[in-house]
Amino acid sequence: APPSILRDNEDGSESGLGESHGDMNWEGLGFSLTPTDYMHVMKCSEGEKFSQGSIVRYGNIEISPAAGILNYGQGIFEGLKAYRTEDGRILLFRPEENALRMKIGAERLCMPSPSVEQFVDAVKKTVLANKRWIPPTGKGTLYLRPLLMGTGAALGVAPSPEYTFLIYCSPVGNYHADGALNLKVEDKFYRSIAGNGGTGGIKSVTNYAPVYTSTTEAKANGFSDVLFLDSATGKNIEEATACNVFVVKENVIFTPAIDGTILPGITRKTIIDIAKDLGYKVVEGSISVEEMMNADEVFCTGTAVVVTSVASVTYKDIRAEYKTGAKTLSEKLRGILVGIQTGRVEDKKSWTVQV
Ligand code: COI
Repeated sequence: APPSILRDNEDGSESGLGESHGDMNWEGLGFSLTPTDYMHVMKCSEGEKFSQGSIVRYGNIEISPAAGILNYGQGIFEGLKAYRTEDGRILLFRPEENALRMKIGAERLCMPSPSVEQFVDAVKKTVLANKRWIPPTGKGTLYLRPLLMGTGAALGVAPSPEYTFLIYCSPVGNYHADGALNLKVEDKFYRSIAGNGGTGGIKSVTNYAPVYTSTTEAKANGFSDVLFLDSATGKNIEEATACNVFVVKENVIFTPAIDGTILPGITRKTIIDIAKDLGYKVVEGSISVEEMMNADEVFCTGTAVVVTSVASVTYKDIRAEYKTGAKTLSEKLRGILVGIQTGRVEDKKSWTVQV
């Protein structure tokens, strides 16, 4: 049964559980915030376990100015999507992977985390409460953003006395508006504190704002995004702002190995599996900028970007161009991935979870 807070419409009907979304214009959805009806909130004190969350009206939250998240960046986030299938079902894609990644990130930042079960259950409740905001198949998805943050007050640099796990959501379309990407290789800054032993391997909130100087400049110069290099050598590719990167040369697929400095993407891992099942050789290791510049194809993966072809990469003043369009490997992999996510392609590995 839906949480009772959902039954608060003036006419007594159940808010957020209706199928009616006739007033929404689903055309041309991008990756921007459309506030929905409800969010999920669960709190716990330091040293305790999360126990009971609730669905509440979507809206601003009140936290202490001395909260750990505001002062010292004690926070991580996740990203996953709810997909509407053609036959009307609602699917999640590998949500327990997001839960596990959050658990690892929480440990790194000394935070308690919801159990995998609590995480998946909260995601499902958030989806059901906001069901009318899931776009029809082919028009977009409902993007869910789980946050885990220190919300208790503390002046000293120390773990927060209280934590909040919150999930909000928004209908979204494509992350990048104009198809294949033109990437600029950043040769001045590295991705946050993503060196060896840093936090590059978790979805720490502190990994993102430090890229703004690079992305702002790159976008002003006509690029879609920035590709970062490893801070140890400054020679090997790591990841773009919000996605992992793959390089294809003579039908062999290469991607940077997970070694603590890049995000272990769930789409990344899935694409590796799909490619291997199709018979492709996939190599996880170091890839130099030079190797990437000589590749046949480059593409990015992530929950938000799905699988997106890269049209060009610019490093200093050299520009490499790659194959894009319907005949690329990236399009083939994207088709299979999205097919599984939306119930069109058989899900042989039980990756999808019905809500
Ligand atoms: C996602 O793909 O879900 C992400 O978390 C990337 C985000 C920074 C937009």
